[in-house]
Parts: sequence; structure tokens; C-alpha cells
Amino acid sequence: MIFYFTGTGNSYAAALGIQQEVGGELINITDCLQKGRYEFAPEKDEAAGFVFPVYFGGLPSIVNDFLERVHFASSPEYLYGVLTYGGRFFGAGGMLEKKIKDSGLELSAVFGLKMPANYAIMYEPPREEEADEILEGSAKRLEEILEQILDRALVKEGTSKSEVETSIKFYPRYNKDRQTAPFYVDDQCVSCGICAERCPVKAIELIDGTPTWIKETCVFCMSCLRCNAIQYGDVLKGRYRYRHPIFRKKTKGKTECH
Ligand SMILES: Cc1cc2nc3c(=O)[nH]c(=O)nc-3n(C[C@H](O)[C@H](O)[C@H](O)COP(=O)(O)O)c2cc1C
Ligand code: SF4
Ligand code: SF4
Repeated sequence: MIFYFTGTGNSYAAALGIQQEVGGELINITDCLQKGRYEFAPEKDEAAGFVFPVYFGGLPSIVNDFLERVHFASSPEYLYGVLTYGGRFFGAGGMLEKKIKDSGLELSAVFGLKMPANYAIMYEPPREEEADEILEGSAKRLEEILEQILDRALVKEGTSKSEVETSIKFYPRYNKDRQTAPFYVDDQCVSCGICAERCPVKAIELIDGTPTWIKETCVFCMSCLRCNAIQYGDVLKGRYRYRHPIFRKKTKGKTECH
């Protein structure tokens, strides 16, 4: 079984790549939280993988929430993480290891997979051509990781004391930054409701046809930014909004959200 969370498609694409080679059920962490699905029974010898993006050197809030609730009928024999990141992995492996331990489980391996950086609220993400070059490197790296997963290698990246200390210092900024107050929609919005459907924590609601952020904080996954009508203060004006090719579709409407 492969549990995944994704905002802009990188981790979903990685999870699909792992499933194609390793097999097992692909399980969307967002769906589990929305449907209250927390009980899992791995088969004998079955591995369990967690695939998700690194946020501020640590775990997305939604992944923390899931790991606090998940329960396995029997401990998976090989439990691994593949964490996608854009530039600096820091001690993300150690942050996952600790969370897994707090959940009463044991992490066997954790790998960092560099992919295009998607944090458009913070910086300009790579545009399609540059992103596709980065993704070529990601595909090669994923092949190495797949071999290690199949060999059940006990590799733990980003778990050294100094790396984890850096993450522990950096990570609190995530909780400060993930405020929804600056989100709003401009006049490109056609009230289709896709942003609200896509939000993993239902932080967006259409009120009289206008997307409205109804929660103070969110995961900050950048998924809703796939629609160009969505703004965050002034920072996104003219800025490219990244999505993995798996989420790219030719646009007919003016909002580029479909
Ligand atoms: C809120 C936020 C924080 C991030 N923090 C980091 C980070 O600390 N280090 C890093 O290398 N990339 C960071 N990134 C980039 C993502 O980890 C990276 O682009 C990831 O592959 C996105 O995965 P997804 O497409 O599955 O959502 C961050 C992105 C977001 C949105
Ligand atoms: S996805 Fe875009 S166009 Fe559709 S409701 Fe949301 S902001 Fe408006
Ligand atoms: S509001 Fe947007 S950035 Fe925040 S969790 Fe929902 S989809 Fe992600």
C-alpha cells in the first residue's frame, strides 16, 4: 500500500511510479481524512509507503493529522517514505521518522526525491521547459529509489542530528505562514467551484458564487493556485503557478483551472 498526499502533482506522479513498479493499493491521504478511513491491514510481507512533499523541512499538516490517526492491524514489515522536495531536504527524513515513532510504528527507510519547487507564494516556480528538465532528473532518481525499495534497503536520508536540528528550527515558520486571510479571487473567476472541490481540507467555500476562505489556516499545498483567478495579496500577480504535467491540461477557458 502506498499512501500519498499532493498539492501540485509531484508526489502523486511519484506515488504512481512506485505503484507501477512495486504494486499495492494507491491510497489518497486526503480521501482517508475526508472519509474517516484510518484502519489498514497489510498482507504478510507487504510494504507500506508514504509519499508527500516536504514543507519547511518537515511534514504537511495534513500528513501529520493522518499519521496521528492511522492504525495498522499488523505492523508493515517494511515502512518507507519518499518525500518530494524542491531544493533543500533538510532533516525531513528525521521529522518523518519521529512522527512515525510517535504513532507506534518504525520507519525502515526514507528517500528524498528532488522535483520542481512549487511554493509560488514564496518564489517564482520553474516554468514548463525548466520544470520538464528537472523532472527528467527526478525520473532517473526515482529509478534508483525503486531499486532500493524492492531490495528493502534500510536507507535513511535527512536523518542526521544536524539536519534534523535545522528542520526543527525552520519548521515552526510553516504554521505562521499558512494563513488564508490574504487569499481572494479576481475578476477572472467564473464560479466553477473547482478550487473548493480540490482543497484537501475544505478551506474554500463558494458563497454567492464567490470562493471564500472559511478557515483561518490551511495546508498551503498550492493546489488551488492552479486557477489564475486566485490571488494571495499581491505576490502572485504575473507569477507562474506550477503544476506537474500529470495535472496540465490544455486550457479552453480563461482561468486555466480545468
Ligand atoms: C508550503 C511549502 C513549503 C515548502 N517547503 C519546502 C522545503 O522546505 N524544502 C524544499 O526543498 N521544498 C519545499 N517546498 C517545495 C515542495 O516540497 C515541492 O515542490 C514538492 O515536490 C511539491 O509536491 P506536490 O506537487 O506533490 O505538492 C515547499 C512547498 C510548499 C508549498
Ligand atoms: S477554480 Fe477559479 S474560476 Fe473556478 S471558482 Fe475557483 S477561483 Fe473561480
Ligand atoms: S486553500 Fe488552497 S493552498 Fe490552502 S489547502 Fe486549500 S487548496 Fe491548498
